[in-house]
Amino acid sequence: MKLHNKTYIIAGVVGLLSAAISCKKPGNNNSGTSNTGCNGQVEMTPYDWVNPPRFPQAELPADNVMYVERIALGKKLFYDTRLSNNGENCESCHKQSMGFSAKDVSEFDKGLQKMPLENLAWYKNFMWSGRIVGTLEDVMFAELTKRFKTDFTKINEIQEYKDLFCKYYGTDNITPELMAKPLAQFMRVLVTKNSKYDRYTLGLEKFNYAEEQGSNIFFTEKGDCFHCHPVLLLTDNQFHNNGLDSVYAKDIDKGRFNFTGIAADMGVFRTPNLRNVALRTEYMHDGRFKTLEEVVDFYDHQVHMGVKNVDPIMVKPTKLQNNGLKLTDIEKQQLIAFLKTLTDDDFTTNSYFKP
Ligand code: HEC
Ligand code: HEC
Repeated sequence: MKLHNKTYIIAGVVGLLSAAISCKKPGNNNSGTSNTGCNGQVEMTPYDWVNPPRFPQAELPADNVMYVERIALGKKLFYDTRLSNNGENCESCHKQSMGFSAKDVSEFDKGLQKMPLENLAWYKNFMWSGRIVGTLEDVMFAELTKRFKTDFTKINEIQEYKDLFCKYYGTDNITPELMAKPLAQFMRVLVTKNSKYDRYTLGLEKFNYAEEQGSNIFFTEKGDCFHCHPVLLLTDNQFHNNGLDSVYAKDIDKGRFNFTGIAADMGVFRTPNLRNVALRTEYMHDGRFKTLEEVVDFYDHQVHMGVKNVDPIMVKPTKLQNNGLKLTDIEKQQLIAFLKTLTDDDFTTNSYFKP
C-alpha cells in the first residue's frame, strides 16, 4: 500500500490545494491541522455489529463509527511493537490463547495482574481499580500515552500508517487521540459468546451433572456468586470489596481507594469478567491465587468478614453463622466444573483476531 514518493508529492499538492479552497472532505477531518499528502477518507465497509443473543445492547460511540477497515487498522496497531519503545506490543501482555490476558503480574503496573480483554464493549469502568471511567477510546489513550509513551514523531514517519489513517480517518496527522480510535474498535470486537455456557443458555448443548450442579451453586444463594458475576456477562462491572484482605500490605491492594481517596473504597475492585477464567494462570488483582481451587477455597472459608467495608453479600447471616459457604469438596469441584464451561475456544482461536 506504500505510495511512491512522487505520487505522495502530487497527492500532497492536491491535498494542499483542496485545503486552500476549503473543500470539506468526506471523512470530516476534525484534527484541524494541515494534512499534507492526505486526500481524505475513502469509502469503507460498515461493520455489522451483531449483539449476541440475550446480551444487553452494547453502546457504540457515534464519534468513532465502526468499519471493517478501521478494525483491521486497530488490529495491526495491537500487534505492532513500534508503538512502544521497548519492543513490547499489546500482545506481550494480552494473549489471545489466554482470553487476551497473560501469565505473571506486570512489573510496570506495580504488580497488577495482566487483564483479559473480552466483552469490553459492555464496560464503562475499566482497570482493576476502575481508575478509568469512560470509553475504550479513553483506555487506549492511556495505554498509548502512559504505558507505551508512544513516540508520535516516529509514528508519523511511518508512511504506511500515514496512508492508512488518511484513508480511514481522513487525516494523516497521527495523534494519540486518533490512534486510540482504531485500537478501541479492535477492543470492541473482542466478543466472547460461544462457550459451552452460552450454548447451554441457548438450549443448544447440555451440561453434565457436575456442571449443572456447579451452575446451581454459582447462580443461587448457596455460592452467591451471581450478585457480582451475573448471568451472561459474568461481571456487573461495579465495585466491591470481596474480603480478600484485612491488611492492605501492598499499595495495589488498596484498589479503588488509590484513585478516589475515600475510606469506603479501601480494598474495593471492579468485578472481573469470569469468561475464559480457566485459561488464566493467576487470579485476583495481584495474581495471588494460582488455581481455581485456591479461588474457591478463598470464597468458601477465607473471606475476611470483619473488614468494615466488605460487601454485604459476603457477610449474610448464614455466612457469618457458618463462617463461610461451607461447600463440600464435591461441591467445590462442581463449582469449578461450571467455571470451566465459560471457556470459549472460538474466541481463543478465532483467526479474525490474529495478526
Ligand atoms: C506490560 C504489560 C501490558 C502491555 C504491554 C499492555 N497492557 Fe493492557 N493492561 C495491562 C495491565 C496490568 C492492565 C491492568 C492495569 C490496571 O488495572 O491498572 C491492563 C489493562 C488493559 C485494559 C483494560 C481492561 C479492563 O477490563 O478494564 C485494556 C483495554 C488494555 N489493557 C488494552 C491494552 C492495549 C490495547 C495495549 C497496547 C496498546 C496494552 N493493553 C498493552 C498490561 C499491559
Ligand atoms: C461481592 C461481589 C462478589 C461476589 C459475591 C463474588 N465475587 Fe468473585 N470477584 C469479585 C471481585 C471484586 C473480584 C476481584 C477482587 C480482586 O482482584 O482483588 C473477584 C474475583 C474473582 C475471581 C478472579 C478472577 C480473575 O480474573 O482474577 C474469580 C475466579 C471469582 N471472583 C469467582 C467467584 C465465585 C466462584 C464466586 C462465588 C463463590 C464469587 N466470585 C463471588 C466480586 C465478587
